[in-house]
Amino acid sequence: MASTLPLLSLLPALAIAGWAAFSPSTALADGMPVGEGLDTEELKRLVHQDCGSCHGLTLKGGLGPDIRPETLTHYEPDILETVILDGIPDTPMPPWRPLITQEEAQWIALYLLNGDAQ
Ligand code: HEC
Repeated sequence: MASTLPLLSLLPALAIAGWAAFSPSTALADGMPVGEGLDTEELKRLVHQDCGSCHGLTLKGGLGPDIRPETLTHYEPDILETVILDGIPDTPMPPWRPLITQEEAQWIALYLLNGDAQ
């Protein structure tokens, strides 16, 4: 009996250690960079195939204008996100809201602004 007692008394300590090991990663999840949980490969494909069908595969422009970072400098990320979600009325630039989430539009906006899309 005496030999099992030290083991049992260790259990709460282990539980606390386990919780402590877990909590930093849970806390990190809140501050994760945009893109966490998104299918970014699929979004990249969308940018180059679907946006690219008008803006050019390399986004240099086609039917739609050049949307490389140097031409988007006047955009705040949240404005760009809105342009992507709502389109530009009375132009061929379509609203993407029916197809993508707000989070995905935010990711695309940052992808375009950061120049990763080139
Ligand atoms: C059907 C063609 C078409 C598709 C598809 C399309 N666009 Fe456009 N887009 C346009 C046109 C045309 C304009 C210019 C509208 C105007 O005259 O202001 C435009 C404008 C824009 C602008 C504003 C550029 C600026 O300099 O102000 C952004 C940003 C943009 N598109 C991003 C995207 C993104 C991101 C996608 C894919 C999610 C996309 N577009 C898909 C046709 C398209």
